[in-house]
Amino acid sequence: MINKINVLLVEIRDLKVNNSEEIEALRIKYLSKKGEITSLMNDFRHVAAEEKKILGQKLNELKEQAQKKINELKAGYENQSSSDDSIDLSRTAYPYHVGTRHPLSIVKQEICDIFGRLGFSIAEGPEIEDDWHVFSSLNFADDHPARDMQDTFFIQQGIDTLLRTHTSSVQTRVMEKTQPPIRIICPGRVYRNEAISYRAHCFFHQVEALYIDKNVSFADLKQVLLFFAKEMFGPDTKIRLRPSFFPFTEPSAEMDISCNLCGGKGCPFCKHTGWVEILGCGMVDPNVLENCGIDSKVYSGYALGMGIERITNLKYQVKDLRMFSENDVRFLRQFEAAT
Ligand code: DAH
Repeated sequence: MINKINVLLVEIRDLKVNNSEEIEALRIKYLSKKGEITSLMNDFRHVAAEEKKILGQKLNELKEQAQKKINELKAGYENQSSSDDSIDLSRTAYPYHVGTRHPLSIVKQEICDIFGRLGFSIAEGPEIEDDWHVFSSLNFADDHPARDMQDTFFIQQGIDTLLRTHTSSVQTRVMEKTQPPIRIICPGRVYRNEAISYRAHCFFHQVEALYIDKNVSFADLKQVLLFFAKEMFGPDTKIRLRPSFFPFTEPSAEMDISCNLCGGKGCPFCKHTGWVEILGCGMVDPNVLENCGIDSKVYSGYALGMGIERITNLKYQVKDLRMFSENDVRFLRQFEAAT
């Protein structure tokens, strides 16, 4: 009997199975009422008294080992479909995708962080606006082309409700409610009646910055622009200001940065100029301050506005604007590392 027990001990130790049905078959073979171990237990009754102690211990050990082995095998096959024997239990688990932040959100956050470090706080305004906040308060002439149906989405014809075409409307909303000092940054979505193509979309995103206080000068603006450009595109970035026109700023300028792809040497991306345009800016026109109830003899300020898509394109070389709104995971997953 001792030999039989020893043989079974080895046999059970080395048991291998291919599916959970085989485990059940083994349980029946060894431990069921007619199983091999149960029948050894029955035979034990006829064993001579002097052998009982050692044999009893051995038998108990065998039974425990068998039970343990079967439990282990079962645990390995839990949650597995009973017929699928091609599963490799030792394989590492699949990586779990928790999703990624959208590239526009990543860049928007970076812009807000940079201005946040300069003391700007975030202000938001409605996307459905009226003519006053989007155009009139900002010094747009009555016949300015931006007021045209071709450029602006009106919610209903003849009614003064429209989708904002820029985030400059948030300037007015904040200035109407707050006296200076004002130092805000306004990220948000804007809408324009454009045919959708790789370089234009009917909605996109902007960030507006506004600083109003006593004695704010163009030099302050320039310093902030340089700081922003270096923080966003690296410490070697240079800036260049070109005179421009916006109804709400005087003087107005457009800012270029040295091309972040070729470092300013000239490449196809910057059309061999070494410079790429990134934003509009200027000193807030005194008319705008007065429109919002701020005394333009006491206060002055600067404003700047940029497209988030534009900055994102420069940072990540996204060639087609439509990628931003298509939600193609093959595109979005490429930003996992930046998240
Ligand atoms: N609102 C302008 C646009 O949508 C961008 C802009 C230009 C904003 C100059 C400003 C600014 O605050 O000073 O094109």
